[in-house]
Amino acid sequence: MKEYQTILTERKGKVGLVTFNRPKSFNALNPVLLTELMDALAEFDSQVEIGAMVITGNEKAFAAGADITNMVDASPEEMRQSPFIPAFDLIRNIKKPVIAAVSGYCLGGGHELAMSCDLIIASESAVFGQPEITLGVIPGAGATQRLTHTVGKIIAMEMILNNRTISAMEALSFNLINHVYPIEDYLTKALTLAQEIADRAPLAVKAAKEMVNQSHEVHLTAGLKEERNTFYNLFSTQDQKEGMKAFLEKRTPTWKGS
Ligand code: CAA
Repeated sequence: MKEYQTILTERKGKVGLVTFNRPKSFNALNPVLLTELMDALAEFDSQVEIGAMVITGNEKAFAAGADITNMVDASPEEMRQSPFIPAFDLIRNIKKPVIAAVSGYCLGGGHELAMSCDLIIASESAVFGQPEITLGVIPGAGATQRLTHTVGKIIAMEMILNNRTISAMEALSFNLINHVYPIEDYLTKALTLAQEIADRAPLAVKAAKEMVNQSHEVHLTAGLKEERNTFYNLFSTQDQKEGMKAFLEKRTPTWKGS
């Protein structure tokens, strides 16, 4: 495997493990990290010895969302031309199952990335949320569609409109994740699950993943396109600039409604 700047990669039996490595910013997702992640997943996907992948962060954070420093001054046009949001789509090209092993913060784009995986294993400390409203924008990498399909309208509304965060046990009861384990076990359990899947018939595993994904996508495709467009357009508002500046300056934003 290559040397990467923002992730670590490792082979564990038949499982490819990718660990986000930007601990100072709670693994905020910047363009380099997403590019490296998708590159590493594609590399594992191409290796015959690998049957499944796990992506993880550290105990404190899976990922606290998209890196706000990269977006604060962006215009809608710059957002549209950036490869950043489309990079989230690349996970769809991965043919073998990908498991998200989540502990600590799993927010915004971090949560959207986890929801793009095929299974989610969480530690008891995991916290899931979509805080984009606090920045004057909406989720731009799938949450208005994927979260709503998974947890239903009213819970999705509360999370997206009012930054309700949910605990691991709540996420389990909302069908958002597969299992919750103590913090010392969640990664091992995710790797064990990945190894079990990796031991199954490879072509059937890939076919099953593709078919389950397709059952979602019939409804998803148009919604995802509209969500992305709306997200980009919000970068023409003063509220987006104010919300993201206020976060970086560690103060409460003053909303103008314009
Ligand atoms: N982007 C950039 N930097 C981030 C970040 C992010 N998403 N999340 C945390 N950081 C940085 C902070 O700026 C801070 O940096 P400095 O040490 O240089 O000051 C460092 O990480 C530690 O963060 P805090 O001091 O805020 O730590 P905390 O313990 O008080 O709070 C937190 C932790 C609750 C995760 C808080 O950092 C937070 O709310 N982060 C932002 C979460 C967020 O809004 N995510 C959505 C991003 S937009 C998005 O994802 C769009 C999309 O749909 C694609």
